[in-house]
Amino acid sequence: MQIIRDIAMLRRAVTALKQGGKSVALVPTMGALHDGHLSLVRMAKRVADHVVVSIFVNPTQFGPNEDFSAYPRDEARDAALLAQEGVGLLWAPDVAIMYPAGHSTHIEVAELGADYCGAARPGHFDGVATVVSKLFNQVHPDVAIFGEKDWQQLAIIRRMARDLDFALDILGAPIARDVDGLALSSRNAYLSSDQRAAAVAFPKALQAAAKAIAGGADVDDALARAKADIVAGGFDSVDYVALADAGSLERLDVFRAPARLLAAARIGKTRLIDNYPVD
Ligand code: PAF
Repeated sequence: MQIIRDIAMLRRAVTALKQGGKSVALVPTMGALHDGHLSLVRMAKRVADHVVVSIFVNPTQFGPNEDFSAYPRDEARDAALLAQEGVGLLWAPDVAIMYPAGHSTHIEVAELGADYCGAARPGHFDGVATVVSKLFNQVHPDVAIFGEKDWQQLAIIRRMARDLDFALDILGAPIARDVDGLALSSRNAYLSSDQRAAAVAFPKALQAAAKAIAGGADVDDALARAKADIVAGGFDSVDYVALADAGSLERLDVFRAPARLLAAARIGKTRLIDNYPVD
């Protein structure tokens, strides 16, 4: 597997991969890879001839009091996992390549970025949209794959790609979960063993609420019950539990399909997100 850190070399390598009309899939990541990421890589291998994975811990999507410096980084381990999966190219730029001195352009997907995680993490989705648009321009993939765990992020990236006429397909990959139902996340590594045991309350409460709403329960009651169950299960606070239109992310007081139950909650210093379809 080639590890490339320079844009000119990346362009040459991608041009070589595309020779003979071959397709390229991009899997953007921030590293600290787990089975969820590897499931994106496997999907990428199914839909394209070559897979490029990027690893870049993007400073512009972290707020001033967030975990940018503590975010887990182990490129050697990640590279070994990707090589085992048969990935051909790892794009691993450093911050000075991604954001050269004087970098002053950013992308805001206004309508979809303001609520939910956008409200709790001001500027986060501008950082995501900006770096993802740069990755698209750097790699020029035919298709890019993102996890459905970050449902709002996926909706924002789809809208950005449409609004800015990026010529690629965006695919969402189903959420990978641990055996007890907790969605896989690089941030699960922050949990103590007690917190990890308690964290199962989060998917359990959301799954129950999604089922209740689909079965006709009052939406406000189901959301209130889910919040109470998450806190009773050992979480310190709930940022939001909301029913949203699956595409526009508009908040729904009354269920109509296709909808998604979106949530974020904090346990100790760790903020977890998750979502379930309601249908
Ligand atoms: O989902 C992530 O890991 C990041 O937000 C992404 C898409 C790689 C952009 O930095």
